[in-house]
Amino acid sequence: MTIIRSISKMQKLSRELAAEGKRIGLVPTMGFLHDGHTSLIKRAARSSDVVITTIFVNPTQFAPNEDLSRYPRDEKGDIAKIKSAGGEVIFIPKATDIYPEEFQTYVNVEKLTLTLEGKVRPTHFRGVTTVVAKLFNLTRPDLAVFGMKDYQQAIVLKQMTRDLGYPIKFVIAPTVRERDGLAMSSRNKYFTETQRPEARALYYALRTAREMVRSGCKETSLIRREMKAVIKATCRTAQVEYIEFTHLESLKPVKQIAKGTICSLAVRMHGVRLIDNMKLL
Ligand code: PAF
Repeated sequence: MTIIRSISKMQKLSRELAAEGKRIGLVPTMGFLHDGHTSLIKRAARSSDVVITTIFVNPTQFAPNEDLSRYPRDEKGDIAKIKSAGGEVIFIPKATDIYPEEFQTYVNVEKLTLTLEGKVRPTHFRGVTTVVAKLFNLTRPDLAVFGMKDYQQAIVLKQMTRDLGYPIKFVIAPTVRERDGLAMSSRNKYFTETQRPEARALYYALRTAREMVRSGCKETSLIRREMKAVIKATCRTAQVEYIEFTHLESLKPVKQIAKGTICSLAVRMHGVRLIDNMKLL
């Protein structure tokens, strides 16, 4: 297990690995790993010789009112989990190295970032694409794996990879869920034991949508109404930020469910913001 904290050492190692003909798999994370992350590491390990996992809580993707300062951290636990998932290299850069003084270069994907999460969090994706581009440059992967849970992020990053000509195979891996359907997320830790069962509301709502589509309903306004009712029934105090139906790749909104429609939603409950999604057809 190699733990690297400096940019120059990371650059040196990725050059050496490439010179040895090793295929590098990259899994960028913000730490506080759960089984969702380890599934990404295992997926990367299947198609590469060396997996580099990065741990970096990226300040530029948090707005000033968001949870940067309380974002959970557990470096020791993360290292153990990465090791047991088959990750050989961990890159843990410092914020002052990723964003040195006078840093002023950002990567921005234009259209795909204007909808869904981008509408509610207008500066978020610029931070994500900037840091991931930098991590791509420093680690030079052949393959990068991102989770479907942050589905718009994956689509935006895939676009960036194509637009900037990175020679990287882009893999989107399935969402890993808790027993009751809650999508795994480091933010699930914010819930108390009594609040936590209500967080399954998002999955229940998505499952309801899928069942409605299976039984022939194509009208997104009807499905949205039912989903809101399911959420309210599971968590009385939940606030639905959005429930959107879009095309899987273009992210363009659809009124009638058609092939390639995905439903994405964001809900606030007990001071925690949760997102989830499900392909409906
Ligand atoms: O999904 C995340 O954890 C982050 O957005 C990422 C891709 C590591 C960039 O900071």
